[in-house]
Amino acid sequence: MSVETFSADWLGLREPFDAAARDEAAARLQLDDQLAALRPPSGTPWRVIDLACGTGANQRWLAPRLRGPQQWLMVDHDDALLRRIPEPVEGVSLVRQRLDLMASLEALPWHAAHLVTASALLDLVGTAWLHRLVTACASARVPLLLSLSVDGRHIWTPADPGDAEVGALFAAHQRRDKGFGPALGAQAVATLLPALRHAGYRVRQARSDWQVDTSQLLESLIDGMAEAALEQAPLRTVASRGWQGRRRSLVTQTRLRVGHADVLAWPVRT
Ligand SMILES: C[S@@+](CC[C@H](N)C(=O)[O-])C[C@H]1O[C@@H](n2cnc3c(N)ncnc32)[C@H](O)[C@@H]1O
Repeated sequence: MSVETFSADWLGLREPFDAAARDEAAARLQLDDQLAALRPPSGTPWRVIDLACGTGANQRWLAPRLRGPQQWLMVDHDDALLRRIPEPVEGVSLVRQRLDLMASLEALPWHAAHLVTASALLDLVGTAWLHRLVTACASARVPLLLSLSVDGRHIWTPADPGDAEVGALFAAHQRRDKGFGPALGAQAVATLLPALRHAGYRVRQARSDWQVDTSQLLESLIDGMAEAALEQAPLRTVASRGWQGRRRSLVTQTRLRVGHADVLAWPVRT
């Protein structure tokens, strides 16, 4: 098992691409209307749990869409990231909680929440943990908004002959244990949806793809994919390094679409 750590720099680099992708998904999900329908009674602030919040990008994107007073419980196991969360705007309060979501998921105050949310988390988790999450949320009949789960698509323009091999090695590496059991990677949403429906949720999903055309994020992704491919298949070092070199030399002329999905789920009234 490798416990993944995420640098604040990496989270900052991806934040504008996450936000643009989520804006598009929100339109397809009709998210503003859906959230309005889920809003707590007048005079009651939204109480939101943000799982694996990092430096708070999910909160920064979602808070303006919830409208009105809000209380956020920001949960992560990395104290350094929690300390980087800026103070929110007026009317929004937040509490930072350091917690290992593998060990202590069930300890969260599910029954007090109006919404449970996470971004860029689900592909790190395993099947058993995903079912624990669904069980905890269903027992409290709380809606979920789970954003930016990778779906395995990497569409490079222009294409390179090594894209398929490096992409497959990267996908295999993504399924390694990240601290939540063998990771679901690109299968996360496909595993989540039936579990939610079985637990009595109505579900909507929409693509939230990154459209990457800046050198800094492209280089970071190229290097990350190459390193993962090397770890996954050391005997293919020459092929992976060759792909990395060719991709880096073309970076200013490259566009990359990285497939993600956003899921909104709310309990069916009985
Ligand atoms: C890809 S980052 C996403 C951060 C943030 N949600 C965002 O969208 O910027 C994954 C986050 O999961 C957190 N994480 C990983 N394993 C965890 C665990 N066992 N318990 C709590 N948080 C964990 C990391 O610290 C990191 O902040």
